[in-house]
Amino acid sequence: MKKLAPSILSADFARLGEEIRAVEAAGADLIHVDVADGHFVPNITVGVPVVEAIRPITALELDVHLMIAAPERYLDAFMDAGGDIITVHAEAGPHVHRLIQRIRERGKKAGVSLNPGTPLSSLDHVLAEVDLVLLMSVNPGFGGQRFIRSMLPKIAALRERIDRERHRALIEVDGGVKVDNAAEIARAGADILVAGSAIFGSGDVAGAVKRLKEAIAR
Ligand code: DX5
Ligand code: ZN
Repeated sequence: MKKLAPSILSADFARLGEEIRAVEAAGADLIHVDVADGHFVPNITVGVPVVEAIRPITALELDVHLMIAAPERYLDAFMDAGGDIITVHAEAGPHVHRLIQRIRERGKKAGVSLNPGTPLSSLDHVLAEVDLVLLMSVNPGFGGQRFIRSMLPKIAALRERIDRERHRALIEVDGGVKVDNAAEIARAGADILVAGSAIFGSGDVAGAVKRLKEAIAR
């Protein structure tokens, strides 16, 4: 079953609890939390207190996407705050393997993310260790960008490799996911699709979740 992870980056932060309850009621599978620090990416978004605040208001897993430099400094804080899946960028430092070990040691699910320009070969020595690979299909930092279509063959190549080498890692695709491209992204091999502006910018959160879920189930 393909999953949908609404990214709260495009939610109305003044009504964040209601927005999360609305996507959960509409059938969302995970809540994707985009943490950006103004260093690793140009934007600054939300941090540990927001993860802490939303933890008690949803039964869904919190999928924490760390777009931050020096993630080793903050990993435990995000896990303590209630993050269930913690994803670090392969480009964020020299010790991605150590970070993954730390996340798994704490009994959490570990993800590794690749920017659009980072080759799949950077997964070589971590793919067996992770629960999730988050492929960026826009350059990270901002919601509302256009899906980079050359990421479709990258998704397919990773799908083929994971299946051939029998890894457990799920493929999550993040950036520019809309109702009209979700089906082909799922077909290319994504297990989890992140969508921010397509859901929270739509004026009809429940309808958008429903249409996206239908598209990826096809
Ligand atoms: C981008 C974030 C994404 C983003 C997706 O830096 O990692 O999760 O919020 O937003 P949309 O769906 O609007 O591209
Ligand atoms: Zn994200």
